[in-house]
Amino acid sequence: MSANLTALAYLIASVLFIMALRGLSSPESARSGNVYGMIGMAIAVVTTVINPNVVSYEWILGALVIGGGIGAFIARRIAMTDMPELVAAFHSLVGLAAVLVAAAAYYNPGAYGIADADGLLKLASRIEMGIGVVIGAITFSGSIIAFGKLKGLVTGNPITFPGQHALNAAMGAVIVVLVILFTIGPDPQWFWAMAVLAFVLGFLLIIPIGGADMPVIVSMLNSYSGWAAAGIGFTLENTALIITGALVGSSGAILSYIMCKAMNRSFISVLLGGFGGDTVVAGTRSDKPVKAGSADDAAFIMKNASSVIIVPGYGMAVAQAQHSVREMGDMLKQHGVKVTYAIHPVAGRMPGHMNVLLAEANVSYDEVFELEGINSDFSNTDVAFVIGANDVTNPAAHEPGSPIAGMPILDVDRARTCLFVKRSLSPGYAGIDNELFYADSTMMLFADAKKMVEDIVKAL
Ligand code: TAP
Repeated sequence: MSANLTALAYLIASVLFIMALRGLSSPESARSGNVYGMIGMAIAVVTTVINPNVVSYEWILGALVIGGGIGAFIARRIAMTDMPELVAAFHSLVGLAAVLVAAAAYYNPGAYGIADADGLLKLASRIEMGIGVVIGAITFSGSIIAFGKLKGLVTGNPITFPGQHALNAAMGAVIVVLVILFTIGPDPQWFWAMAVLAFVLGFLLIIPIGGADMPVIVSMLNSYSGWAAAGIGFTLENTALIITGALVGSSGAILSYIMCKAMNRSFISVLLGGFGGDTVVAGTRSDKPVKAGSADDAAFIMKNASSVIIVPGYGMAVAQAQHSVREMGDMLKQHGVKVTYAIHPVAGRMPGHMNVLLAEANVSYDEVFELEGINSDFSNTDVAFVIGANDVTNPAAHEPGSPIAGMPILDVDRARTCLFVKRSLSPGYAGIDNELFYADSTMMLFADAKKMVEDIVKAL
């Protein structure tokens, strides 16, 4: 394939990637967005593979079969609720790949076309390689810790110690010096010292970050993995990799910003860590009375309502109750009740989690509203039906000093009646008690979400 044709194919692939991102910005166009992304990736891979510089098709084919096989196997088996940790695990592989490709190019610059007339690494390549290795190593170890925290292998509580920020800052400064030394004289000791220190720094940067901030961190690591890939794109002088890496890097950064805004957290305070864990902070849950009801009670209340807003959360995902919820919504509509769905930007465990589940259950898009689009409706609504959601409704967010202070919440307490489906009075992800459970207008429906909704459907 000629250089011009290769450039054209990469350009087409890049445009398709941009169309993919555009498509993924709304649940309605997400499927077509995925298709654009798949076509773009197929064009990029085929164009790269039919390059005359390829030395061994056996290795490429072997890697494609093994990697593709493992990927397909995992993708078929993974539960939607485990998606964030899978994403974190995949990011770690991107980071590791960046370090390994850089090492391969470092030891054999001629084969990668990045050697100068004396057969040494070109100056520009040293700079790109240094930065790429550092970002790749931080992404690798940081993503492993994020994976461990999300999977419960490492405590979700922040792990902190005195002088932590000073240590991180000092290590960051030493890494910058090492990158400069590597640029001046690319000796192997600088290469590996950079990689090892960046690896340790990635670990130290993520351990103080608590569970509640993990979504932002996963998206930030997503961004890092994109920049690591772009760095390797420069090393390999592959434009498709540079553009794709930059797209992933910038979209990950934008998503991190959007999530910080949704949780009212500053990006810097997330990076400095120390927030969110397993401790129950407010209230003395055991000694306060709660009003508990049955499926029959809930069916009666909702059948006689004129409007119901359904608020799904993580528990709906765990129970896989979305199909029963849609069925319940349809039955209520047959009774003349207006039914809508309210989605908080960080409900569940990944961005768009609830949108995906509701789309899977064929809930019509025009019944589904984001926080800003529906929050003012709660005060004119008869019933807020909160299913497996907790933090995203917690009024503790209005109290200064609370761990979720300032996070915008869905104002379900403004509805005339609030029905809460969950199994117990346990807190949600941020680990704080929810005073709404004890409010006069609240009725708790203690059960597994799917079982409860199925019983309500029967009662209806
Ligand atoms: P949470 O606050 O985590 O609350 C979920 C509730 O679901 C729990 O209190 C739990 O109570 C209940 N539950 C669990 N399994 C259930 C089941 N089988 N049946 C019925 N209820 C069940 O969820 P949320 O309101 O969706 O808030 C999300 C939280 O996760 C936020 O703090 C957010 O910052 C964080 N987070 C979000 C993301 C993204 S990007 N969305 C990623 C990671 C973390 P019981 O145990 O009493 O049943």
